[in-house]
Amino acid sequence: MKYSQIKKLNTHFPKHFLWGGATAANQIEGAFDKDGKGLSTSDMAAYKDPYASGKVDNFTFNVTSKELEFYENHPEKTLFPKRWGIDFYHNYKEDIALFAEMGFNVFRLSISWVRIFPTGLESAPNEAGLAFYDKVFDECAKYGIEPLVTMSHYEMPIELTKKYNGWVNRALVQIFEKYAKVILERYKHKVKYWITFNEMNMNLNSLYTGAGVLADLVDNPLQAAYQASHHQFLASALAVKAARDIIPDAKVGCMINHIESYAKTTKPEDQLQSVKSNQLNMFYPDVQARGEYPSYITRYFADQNIDIQMQDEDEAILREGKVDYVAISYYMSHVTEAREDAAKLAGSFDSPIKNEYLKLTQWDWPIDATGLRIALIKLYDRYELPLFVAENGLGAKDVLSSDDNIHDDYRIDYLKQHIAAVKDAIEDGVDVFGYTVWGCIDLISCGTSQMSKRYGFIYVDQDDQGKGSLKRIPKDSFYWYKKVIASNGEDLT
Ligand code: BG6
Repeated sequence: MKYSQIKKLNTHFPKHFLWGGATAANQIEGAFDKDGKGLSTSDMAAYKDPYASGKVDNFTFNVTSKELEFYENHPEKTLFPKRWGIDFYHNYKEDIALFAEMGFNVFRLSISWVRIFPTGLESAPNEAGLAFYDKVFDECAKYGIEPLVTMSHYEMPIELTKKYNGWVNRALVQIFEKYAKVILERYKHKVKYWITFNEMNMNLNSLYTGAGVLADLVDNPLQAAYQASHHQFLASALAVKAARDIIPDAKVGCMINHIESYAKTTKPEDQLQSVKSNQLNMFYPDVQARGEYPSYITRYFADQNIDIQMQDEDEAILREGKVDYVAISYYMSHVTEAREDAAKLAGSFDSPIKNEYLKLTQWDWPIDATGLRIALIKLYDRYELPLFVAENGLGAKDVLSSDDNIHDDYRIDYLKQHIAAVKDAIEDGVDVFGYTVWGCIDLISCGTSQMSKRYGFIYVDQDDQGKGSLKRIPKDSFYWYKKVIASNGEDLT
């Protein structure tokens, strides 16, 4: 018998590949004060001009204790775009129908923790909040769309920030476990695919967004980021365990924002730095997929003066809560070199070193489809677990044409390259089981709280100040993606 008879080359996307789009509650739902919902950290992320410094600031949302105090007394609509979102709360039927028209068989969304536990501290959940997601999942089921649910996507009860300064406090582990058990139990017949935390590695970038921590109240932000991450690792592991008990066929994943770091030159020291930067990026799935802290982190912690608090049972909890798959968001690659601040930059969104081979988006994000293929190959080599591309997409300014259409060939071009890269990775032997385009319907940007940074296949008539009819208009990319899905990724033209 020949090898080729035993092992077949995968030249196509698998038959039941999951195609769809991804969103987050705090960027789409709106209705921030409806039906008993509490205030979340993202409700307290005010709009700041992302161009104030003369160059686009991709992170306008870190919050200090002084700002939080100020925001509590200023509920003006224009200050907090994430409070109004795109009003998915009232438009979910229409929006899901449009996703179905494109042929989605998966829709990634998150549950807003504060709809279920308004302060995080109640003993019983808020029934109206639970009922909302029942309706959303039922609507998905109507069209055969599988929901993929993130338990916590960049938001948590603001009360937990005020009382505990967020995830730096171990009390949050149990509070989250209670929330996770409630949603797992409630939706056990409706949701099979879960992600515990969105992009945990972004705690290193924005302590407030990822971990609800007011950085001005901690002595050492890097130490706080890793301490908060440790608590999230525990909470995630406990949620994985609960999912296995409650939903026998549950698939629970971890997720990072994967930023591939290339060495600037062939100089061995630059090469070494790229190995180390990539290790720091993969530290999160290393813990969540392998169930223990990787050996390399010991030296990093020592070098950075980090010493996190652990308890006796933590190692067992991590071992027992290993994930079933690894999900990534992928937007860009970076360039790294041996320099003093290299370790710090490894966790950062903004890279000071430009890659001369890559073009940039309007927000200066390097466009690198091959980087996605490299990432998938490396992650599969490392974990041998199924992979899911939970976010990928192009944030761009879309202009409505005179015939009320959006001719977004630039978005089609971007997605075409990235989907082709996923297909190549599959041919390279990688097990990828799904791909969800970020912001499949225009939504509020996470980093800049802009509406004008659009990712969607569906245009939403609303501006940065929250003005507009909220009318939904399919863009050219809508019809293109529909063809891609109908052909199971064969027709990218
Ligand atoms: C990911 C987040 O990091 O990037 C999303 O999970 C976010 O919430 C996306 O929206 C794109 O970032 P931005 O800042 O362009 O919205």
